[in-house]
Amino acid sequence: MMRSTLLRQVSRASATAIRPPTFTAASRLPIRNFSNATPLREKSASDDAAEGRHDEFSTTGKPGAFEHEGQFSRTDNTIRMPYPEEEDLPSSKPVQGRGGFHFKRTLASFSLEGRVGVVTGGARGLGLVMSQALVVSGADVAIVDLNKDEAQKQAELLMEHFREENPGATEVPKVTAHYADVSNPDSVNSALEEIISSHGQIDNLVTSAGFTENFDAIEYPYDRIKKLWGVNVDGTYLFATGVAKHLMARKAPGSIVMIGSMSGAIVNVPQPQAPYNAAKAAVRHLASSLAVEWAHAGIRVNCISPGYMLTALTKKILDDNPELAAKWTSLIPQGKMGRPEDLMGAVTFLCSDASGYVTGADLRVDGGYTVT
Ligand SMILES: NC(=O)c1ccc[n+]([C@@H]2O[C@H](COP(=O)([O-])OP(=O)(O)OC[C@H]3O[C@@H](n4cnc5c(N)ncnc54)[C@H](O)[C@@H]3O)[C@@H](O)[C@H]2O)c1
Repeated sequence: MMRSTLLRQVSRASATAIRPPTFTAASRLPIRNFSNATPLREKSASDDAAEGRHDEFSTTGKPGAFEHEGQFSRTDNTIRMPYPEEEDLPSSKPVQGRGGFHFKRTLASFSLEGRVGVVTGGARGLGLVMSQALVVSGADVAIVDLNKDEAQKQAELLMEHFREENPGATEVPKVTAHYADVSNPDSVNSALEEIISSHGQIDNLVTSAGFTENFDAIEYPYDRIKKLWGVNVDGTYLFATGVAKHLMARKAPGSIVMIGSMSGAIVNVPQPQAPYNAAKAAVRHLASSLAVEWAHAGIRVNCISPGYMLTALTKKILDDNPELAAKWTSLIPQGKMGRPEDLMGAVTFLCSDASGYVTGADLRVDGGYTVT
């Protein structure tokens, strides 16, 4: 008896629970019609004024009502800085104290032993420091540059530096220098042939040849734009396809790292540089596109997008426009410009097996600039 009552109650309860709600006029929730609702208190003139207080900051406000409008997000067309002549850019020195033996445990997969890396634009600045990172990590390196003499000098310095920092080393990495204008297909092909005949193979490519300059878009001389795109975009494309072709012929895996810039993702202020920004956006997406196209061949393609790094070029820009240092650093969450050394780990990681499952990525090394 008790059991059947209990069952009846349970079945009644569950039927109620699953029955869809039926809305009749009487069961409707009392929804308050806002337009007819009595206000809590009458609106006063001061309320109106308070509500309008912020309107001036919106598109209802008069343009130019405040001095600060757009202050931190505008380009200044008076800033003009053509890429300096070669003799105005001093040569770089090898980074000190990074290449000796150490007894700190680290992942073996970061090692580049037995690999050959090519670095375009490796005679100076970021390219040179990244060449050194590859050497320190165990690779042989071919430095490619327009300035062959400087590339040769730096190649010898890197080997000498390695000997000094590794006095017991039985083998010294082979570092060679090669001329190429990366924007010229014939020049690229003959440099690649030269490198392959000297080193036997290529496993890694870092495309650092590139430059920036500042002109406002309306006044930018078209021949300079073509040159800028030629070096930054065509140069990256030509070297990447040349190396990929070689890797595919060898049926060997490889890793290509393209040096883009945070300018490929944001618009720098206050210096105007639209063609450079567009070029670096192209480099970033080229890396993603080629990563997809060549994944089947075991070739990984990634991009490093540096922020403001202190190199000979940026030092010169700051010498000519000292007020820029404060503006640039005010926009960087870490508050400082990067040093070329800050790319050593990033490039080694992306070239090595440690990043085996990373392809098509854009690694920003910018002190947080692009996240704010
Ligand atoms: N310095 C920065 O703050 C910064 C920031 C973001 C991205 N980048 C990018 O990093 C790369 C290196 O910049 P950097 O500051 O070291 O510049 P850099 O001027 O110090 O070095 C560039 C090197 O490329 C070589 N080069 C130029 N045109 C060439 C060509 N047609 N063929 C072959 N070699 C050529 C130069 O001779 C030079 O050795 C560039 O692609 C640049 O856009 C630099």
